[in-house]
Amino acid sequence: MTKRVAILISGGGSNMVALARSMHGNHPARPCLVMSNVAGAGGLAKARDLGIQTAVVDHRPFGKDRAGFEAELHKALAAAAPDIICLAGFMRILTADFVSKWNGRMLNIHPSLLPKYKGLHTHARAIEAGDGEAGCTVHEVTASLDDGPILGQARAPILPGDTPDTLAARILPLEHSLYPAVLRRFADGDRTPLFLPGSD
Ligand code: GRF
Repeated sequence: MTKRVAILISGGGSNMVALARSMHGNHPARPCLVMSNVAGAGGLAKARDLGIQTAVVDHRPFGKDRAGFEAELHKALAAAAPDIICLAGFMRILTADFVSKWNGRMLNIHPSLLPKYKGLHTHARAIEAGDGEAGCTVHEVTASLDDGPILGQARAPILPGDTPDTLAARILPLEHSLYPAVLRRFADGDRTPLFLPGSD
């Protein structure tokens, strides 16, 4: 049966677009919802242009009430009945309680070669550390931040003179290849990690 995929975003949604565009033809999944915690997220308009239902649950009115925010998020998600949830530039940390509700069904893309550089500012940290390469990782979401089983990675060199922006511009197209490739396998029930050749 065709799998239903919800995609959570906070920003421009370029990964969301890559995922959504990949789900056609004999692909085992279809997008059912794009949801954001930011009402003005650029990706929402792109999702609507693609004919995908959208929803917004703004985190700000909830303040420190993370459980309250997540209850609303869960309600909107549950209404869309996804089989798989893809976090794609979704910039809220989710609690163990929320994650456990979607255990084994939630993926994330992170712009580093995990387990290196969990959290934010990954490219700046890789450059600062003098690393020779960087990349991106798709992983299953577990209660520990950026720590779930790795489902795929793509790598690219860090070049002399790179800034976080130039490195991000090199990595982002790899994200757009890696995430759809991993999603397709995952929707087929294949969780063996995929290691894409990078741009090096
Ligand atoms: C991507 O680099 C993603 O890995 C990171 O935030 C960026 C989101 O970009 N966590 P977009 O919204 O998919 O364009």
